[in-house]
Amino acid sequence: MIDLDGAMVGIVQFERRDVDYEVRQAAGHVDLGYLLLPEAWGRRYATEACEAALSWFAGALPGEAVVLITQTANVPSMRLAGRLGFVEVERFEAYNAEQWVGTWTPAAATG
Ligand SMILES: CC(C)(COP(=O)(O)OP(=O)(O)OC[C@H]1O[C@@H](n2cnc3c(N)ncnc32)[C@H](O)[C@@H]1OP(=O)(O)O)[C@@H](O)C(=O)NCCC(=O)NCCS
Repeated sequence: MIDLDGAMVGIVQFERRDVDYEVRQAAGHVDLGYLLLPEAWGRRYATEACEAALSWFAGALPGEAVVLITQTANVPSMRLAGRLGFVEVERFEAYNAEQWVGTWTPAAATG
């Protein structure tokens, strides 16, 4: 949960998914998800919250990759993925839209 002065303005979540698309099996089994209320957009809160969550994840499950899937049309989400250090694995079509698959590991994120 993302708390701003005592009010919830969004969530960041990890979800383990063991059976899904083949590409996801190759990229990793843990998905990152994020959602902020519109009034909290454009202030770097999502970046700050996701960086904190990924830092926690790297300590809790060392070496395990995190997968992010987002529509390429979702420009703020694509920009966030880039800021966080996710690297493209593949794109595919689903739900009548192009989906972007990225992966993140602590080593790749820190260069
Ligand atoms: C995806 C989502 C979390 C991105 O939120 P966001 O507010 O754009 O991301 P951040 O909190 O990291 O804010 C970054 C923006 O704040 C701006 N910003 C403002 N002050 C800043 C500062 N001091 N430092 C850095 N950036 C700053 C940046 O310029 C950046 O905008 P840009 O990408 O246009 O350059 C948000 O759009 C959302 O919740 N969408 C709905 C849910 C969704 O689509 N989830 C993904 C489904 S897969």
